[in-house]
Formats: sequence, structure tokens, C-alpha cells
Amino acid sequence: MQIAIDGPAGAGKSSVAKEVARRLGLKCLDTGAMYRALTFKALNEGLDLSDNFLLGELTRHCQLEIKFDKNMNTLILLDGEDITEKIRSPEVNKHVSLIARSPDLRKELVYLQRKIAEKSNGIVMEGRDIGTNVLINADHKFFLDAGLEERTHRRWLEMQEKGLEVDPDSLLKEITARDRIDSERKEAPLKIAPEARVIDTTCYNLEEVVEKVIGFIKHTESRG
Ligand code: DC
Repeated sequence: MQIAIDGPAGAGKSSVAKEVARRLGLKCLDTGAMYRALTFKALNEGLDLSDNFLLGELTRHCQLEIKFDKNMNTLILLDGEDITEKIRSPEVNKHVSLIARSPDLRKELVYLQRKIAEKSNGIVMEGRDIGTNVLINADHKFFLDAGLEERTHRRWLEMQEKGLEVDPDSLLKEITARDRIDSERKEAPLKIAPEARVIDTTCYNLEEVVEKVIGFIKHTESRG
């Protein structure tokens, strides 16, 4: 079974995807982590973030390894180094949407994502273009959304938990900018797949959203 979950930053995709995968015994892939890994590398190498050719070369020549831990987290190893924590830095947050515009870089990552899906015995994949591009034939597609203030608040809480102090206003501006870049880019922009079920998570907690997602899946499966 392939389940695609898309939506903007802070809509709850990661937590929902992990819990749905755990309950259904599926693998879970956070594709944003892959874009973040390449952002981390491009920043370290001081690349011009708008140079599509160089970003494609960078992606083709790095060694990106994806692993999964028992809590359904996506672990990222780049050239042998575990950078799972490092890709959540404010610096990466700020630049990741710019890099994700590169068609050459996307082509490489989408290829890897499809390969991971093929090898898995069922997967929940979350990102921005999963239902519209990566897993176009996914069995179930969801688009999670939430109000901008709520999404900003959730991201702020996540960062607080990690001991990262961020100004809520700057965070709101950053999320607004990322939303715009992600949905306006030419290559596989963030949009709702025609068959996707849209869930506004603003007023629901994690358990309630997971219940809704699993409920929709069971309902659809029972109809054959
Ligand atoms: O889900 P996230 O915040 O970790 O994603 C980081 C960025 O990566 C997001 O702003 C856009 C990009 N991304 C993408 O373009 N396509 C995906 N499938 C996943 C993420």
C-alpha cells in the first residue's frame, strides 16, 4: 500500500505520517529531509543556490543514504556522516525552498524516492509533491493544511523543544516565504492532487488527525 501525504510546513504531516505508518505496519519516508540534506551540503560548499546545473551535479555525486529507525524517523547519512539533526537548523530552514526549485536536483531525489517506495513493502511518504508527482498512483492521497498562525506556533514549539530560540514573527515570515516559493515554483509545486482528501488540522490534535486518515483508508479499502 502506498500512502501520499502532502501539505505546507507545520500542517502536521511528519507526525501524522509516522503514526499512520506505525499503526499500519508500513515504512515512512520524510522526503523534506532529503531536500534538507542537499541544502546542508550546498551551504557547506558555498554553492550558488540558484545554479540548477551545479545543484544537479552535487546531488548526483554525493552519497545520500536513507535509513529508518524504530520510531519511524527518517535518518539521513550524507557521505557517511549522520546529519539527521543538522538538517533542522535555522540556516537550512531558511534556504531549503530555494534549493528545492532546482529541476535537476528534484529529478535525482524523486528517482531515489520512487526506488525506496518500490523496495518497500508498503510506504507512507510525506512531502509537497508526493500525490501529484512522486507516487502518482498512490492508493491513498491526503493533503494536510492548517492556518498560518497555527502552523507557525507548531514549528515554534518544535524548535523550543529542541532548545532553539526563534522569534515567532521571523518564523511566521519564513513560513510564509517558504509556502510561496513551494507553491509558485515551476517544477512540481505544492498543490492538492485532484483525488486527495483535504484535512484542515487547525482544530485537531495528532490523534484525531490520525484517526481521520486511518478511517478514510479503511473506508476506501472496504469498498474495494
Ligand atoms: O517538510 P519540510 O519542511 O522538511 O520540507 C523542507 C522543504 O523541502 C520544503 O519547504 C520544500 C521542499 N520539499 C519539496 O520541495 N518537495 C518535497 N516532496 C518535500 C519537501
